[in-house]
Amino acid sequence: MHKQILLLHGPNLNLLGGREPEIYGSMTLAAINDAVKAHVERYSVGLRAEQSNHEGALIEHLHSAKAWADGVIFNPGAYTHTSIALRDAIGGIATPVIEVHLSNIHAREAFRHQSLLAGVCLGQIAGFGWHSYLLGADALLRYWQLLS
Ligand code: DQA
Repeated sequence: MHKQILLLHGPNLNLLGGREPEIYGSMTLAAINDAVKAHVERYSVGLRAEQSNHEGALIEHLHSAKAWADGVIFNPGAYTHTSIALRDAIGGIATPVIEVHLSNIHAREAFRHQSLLAGVCLGQIAGFGWHSYLLGADALLRYWQLLS
């Protein structure tokens, strides 16, 4: 069976393209989703993308991923720094999760330096603009040994 990825975006990421482009770039969320999907399809991996501004909806996407996805690429937005509930959701599913950020959260305001989620994720990628998502996909491909 071919691997399946959930590409999950948290709050405010629906505004990408027009949102603080000097920090987050000018690529829209739809364009990012298309690019990551095209990238993983070259390895016969499927991808479904979801975005929500609601913490509970993100938790439900993670729970349902347990049933169908082999890995998750997750940009939790500001919930990265606040959400014990999302941490527990990631910890509660066996599916590997890669935390990704467009910006380098460690080089920004002090309140962004801590991720409550990183400790339950396979790893974290931050600071490469929309390419962070491609690198997140490559992390899963490598984890599955589809990429050497
Ligand atoms: C972000 C970084 C977060 O601190 C911020 O709240 C976001 C976007 C990023 O992709 O760089 O919404 O996750």
